[in-house]
Amino acid sequence: MNMSVNASATQPKSSSVSFPSASTMDVLFTQAEIADRVKAIGDEISADYAGQSIVLIGVLKGAAIFLSDLARAIQVNNTFDFVSVSSYGRARVSSGAVKLIKDIDNPIEGKHVILVEDILDTGLTLSYLRGLMLQHKPASLKIATCLDKPERRLVPIEADYVAFKIPNRFVIGYGMDYAENYRNLPDIRLFPEELAGH
Ligand code: PRP
Repeated sequence: MNMSVNASATQPKSSSVSFPSASTMDVLFTQAEIADRVKAIGDEISADYAGQSIVLIGVLKGAAIFLSDLARAIQVNNTFDFVSVSSYGRARVSSGAVKLIKDIDNPIEGKHVILVEDILDTGLTLSYLRGLMLQHKPASLKIATCLDKPERRLVPIEADYVAFKIPNRFVIGYGMDYAENYRNLPDIRLFPEELAGH
């Protein structure tokens, strides 16, 4: 890159941090493979909740992309809401502390709820959220996750709907980030382990 003194002086500070191009990273799941699994889960949920309504609750920010696809793949009536929890960073060993930053907007008492995540890793986030949501007395509560990394689990929790089980590798794309980057990638890729900070 040709960086003159003047040009670099006018660059915002964050632009000095460079991230490797996603094109250099191996694809774990293609856009088409993801779409197939989302459709399959959408069909499964539609059959399980035939004739009923569902509230999908996405966990920001990673789940936003999966939720938007899943909501459209589900053929029964569904609404969605979002929660946000404190992030301790999934690449590091967690303190176990999870804090609610944003609660649901609408009551879920008596409703069929599905918590939607991009990745189930240690399980601490969903374990905390499941306990919290159960306090609202939903008619039922299930979990859907795009990815499941069972090797990393610290607390016993399983998802009812899983698009893909994966080994303990750092992944980005389809909502998942490294330092907030790569969430918009349509496929899921392996982030270089030497940069992931494991
Ligand atoms: C990720 C992911 C889950 C959580 C899973 O969120 O979206 O919410 O980690 O990890 P756990 O099973 O170990 O609790 P992250 O904190 O990276 O925030 P983000 O969704 O905004 O990327």
